Amino acid sequence: MALPKQNPQSLKAWSKLQQLAKTEDLSIQKLFEKDAKRFEKYSLQFDDFLFDYSKHRITDEVKSELLNLAKEAGLKEAIQSYFNGDLINETENRAVLHTALRQSSQSNAQLPESQLAKQALNQMQTFVTKVHSGEWKTYAGEKITDVVNIGIGGSDLGPQMIVDALQYYKQDIRCHFISNVDGDPIHELLKTLDPERTLFVIVSKSFTTQETLTNANTIRKWFLKQTTEESIKHNFVAVSTNIEAVQKFGIATNNIFPMYDWVGGRFSLWSTAGLSIALTVGMPIFKELLEGAATMDLHFKETDFDKNIPVLTALISVWYNNFLNAESEAVIPYTNYLHKLAPYLQQASMESNGKSIDRNAQPVDYQTGNIVWGEPGTNAQHAFFQLIHQGTKLIPADFIGFKKALYKDQTHHDILMANFFAQTEALLKGKTRADVKRELKNQGLSTAQIEELIAFKVFDGNKPTTSLLIDKLTPKSLGKLIAMYEHKIFVQGVIWNIFSFDQWGVQLGKELATRVLEDISSDKIINQHDQSTDALLKAYKN
Ligand code: F6P
Repeated sequence: MALPKQNPQSLKAWSKLQQLAKTEDLSIQKLFEKDAKRFEKYSLQFDDFLFDYSKHRITDEVKSELLNLAKEAGLKEAIQSYFNGDLINETENRAVLHTALRQSSQSNAQLPESQLAKQALNQMQTFVTKVHSGEWKTYAGEKITDVVNIGIGGSDLGPQMIVDALQYYKQDIRCHFISNVDGDPIHELLKTLDPERTLFVIVSKSFTTQETLTNANTIRKWFLKQTTEESIKHNFVAVSTNIEAVQKFGIATNNIFPMYDWVGGRFSLWSTAGLSIALTVGMPIFKELLEGAATMDLHFKETDFDKNIPVLTALISVWYNNFLNAESEAVIPYTNYLHKLAPYLQQASMESNGKSIDRNAQPVDYQTGNIVWGEPGTNAQHAFFQLIHQGTKLIPADFIGFKKALYKDQTHHDILMANFFAQTEALLKGKTRADVKRELKNQGLSTAQIEELIAFKVFDGNKPTTSLLIDKLTPKSLGKLIAMYEHKIFVQGVIWNIFSFDQWGVQLGKELATRVLEDISSDKIINQHDQSTDALLKAYKN
């Protein structure tokens, strides 16, 4: 079944929410004061996740209308279509089945796509096991010590985010990532690599991406300076749907890992595109990651909306985006292991929901995809938290923290988590004029001095946060976390009546880059550009 095609503004709940945004008292502090059970009502425990959404500008009425909005938008049926493999990516005539990669016994294991995913996983397992045991030898007969993942966008961000996040669980292999077409990082990396012990994994769903092919060719040339064509089959593998192009590049057919058109690039880390992850942490850990995601899939598919974490996170986001005029949201993990989470989510969310044409091919006249950004805490506190606390913009933030540190350094972990809790408290409560006055008086400032300073030291508070407190950063909890965000993105797209799984907006820049490169490579500028681009090109060529 296709996704419904209704303008969300025509839904009853939408008008009610517009009304509530004007009439409700949305002071979070007051909401806590009025309801001693607010935390109980606005939090839930799912497995090792404590999901607390009580520090939001949401009243019982708002929550109930948000849930009505999901219902009226046809979310239940949409979730069915998503898991059933219906062609919900209509502009590309494709299913969206990254969930089938997770091999959940209950979510959609009966689909033919799940069988293909299983075969691909077995192929990965055989290869990864051989690499780890040393049975797989490079052209020089050596064991592999370094893996270089060459890919960009979904073929880089997901694998890199997970490899970094699971660093604690890694095996002996070092994993490097080359994505940008900027040649400098490649040459920096090549200086450190021994071709006799390095495996190159080229990941490109299309195998036409300019950056990836340029980088792969540069590396291939470097490799061939020291070896022969024959050696490529020992040191290069590829992950792609475009088998012909991979073969043309010179990679042996046995070294090609299949990808499928029913898995979008930005949702592909669970597929063979995650080969570098499996090589780094081993197959059992990779499978645990999949298992974690499958657990979240099941929760999302089968739980009532009022207890469904991805649905609630999406509805909260819609509330701020469409009714309270927030333009962005921050993601602040209190672990350095998740330092790549924000860039990963930027692609997952913004490439999916950065659309202004609805599912009826009409321009939308309401807000869609929000801007996602963030950095790990506590670093973020010393960078942009000033603006969240005292700036003019409303920025709801997800705080993600863990009860246990992996190396069990309790001193550090307690300080880290004290900052997590303190920040959400400070954002909620703020600091009143009376508080500031008292504080400055205690410091011995005169009345005149206090009057001069007071306005600058007041914090309005009422800044919303979600707290996600997870037992420990494990492959399973990480799988759950990422799947949670994937489903959030899906729910938002359903409500906004947009197609979340295409990305036509990235094409124009790619086309123009090809034309501009023609101009850079030839004596004269042959193509027509605008005045500024012409002038810049001339300056570049001179
Ligand atoms: O530029 C956008 C994009 O098409 C992404 O959607 C994708 O993840 C990335 O490029 C890389 O594409 P490929 O895996 O085909 O090289």
